[in-house]
Amino acid sequence: MRVLFIGDIVGAAGRRALKESLPELRSKHNPHVIIVNGENAAGGRGITAAIAKEFFDQGVHGITLGNHTWDNKDIFDFIDREERMVRPANYPPGTPGRGVAVVKGLSKELVIVNVQGRTFLPPLDCPFQTMDAILEKLKKNHKHILVDFHAEATSEKIAMGWYLDGRVSAVVGTHTHVQTHDERILPQGTAYVTDVGMVGGRDGILGMERTAVLQKFKTGLPVRFTADEGKWQFHAVVIELDDETGLSKKIELIRRFETETVWA
Ligand code: FE2
Repeated sequence: MRVLFIGDIVGAAGRRALKESLPELRSKHNPHVIIVNGENAAGGRGITAAIAKEFFDQGVHGITLGNHTWDNKDIFDFIDREERMVRPANYPPGTPGRGVAVVKGLSKELVIVNVQGRTFLPPLDCPFQTMDAILEKLKKNHKHILVDFHAEATSEKIAMGWYLDGRVSAVVGTHTHVQTHDERILPQGTAYVTDVGMVGGRDGILGMERTAVLQKFKTGLPVRFTADEGKWQFHAVVIELDDETGLSKKIELIRRFETETVWA
């Protein structure tokens, strides 16, 4: 099974990048399952039902989220109904939505899990113990499991990779928006990358318009950020899973730009 996992899609530039990149990526990599992180898809803050539908209509099979899950109030209208979307599993019991989903791709099924780190992010339940509990439930029936670990600290992400090595198919990091060059298959067969990278305006700051971000850094005053709507950058990974064991054989980084002109 080949899985295409696409990093945090930020705002309209990110959505445009997805639309313009998917046909070529689909013909080049033939993915059975396509997953996107969509927590920044609505102007950098959360996701709406209309955007989720747009992704599914383009052939995306599952959507993961993160710390911005609740930023757009629209989410509360559809997260309980949308079985192909996961928010961090380590929110307290009773939180709307789900942290684990079985998504159906082209003739293949993949379990997607979203879990959030606690270092430099709001305190949630322990992501490591949350994964233990999830895998205990999944192990009887599922071998093909992708974990989107949405976390700030590289150390926490690497720790999760080692913790889950041999227990899941892949641990892919999201949230920090800059693709890391440490993709590998860990010794027990789990594909790992610290951060897949983002999909959105390439001349902003992590996908947000840079003037406002700079102003915030310079003044410390509250500033409203908007998504950068210029030319895009696109980051993803393709992972090849063994159909029998569920472990991974290969992970490959994808990095594309709207044009290759000199950056401002
Ligand atoms: Fe995030």
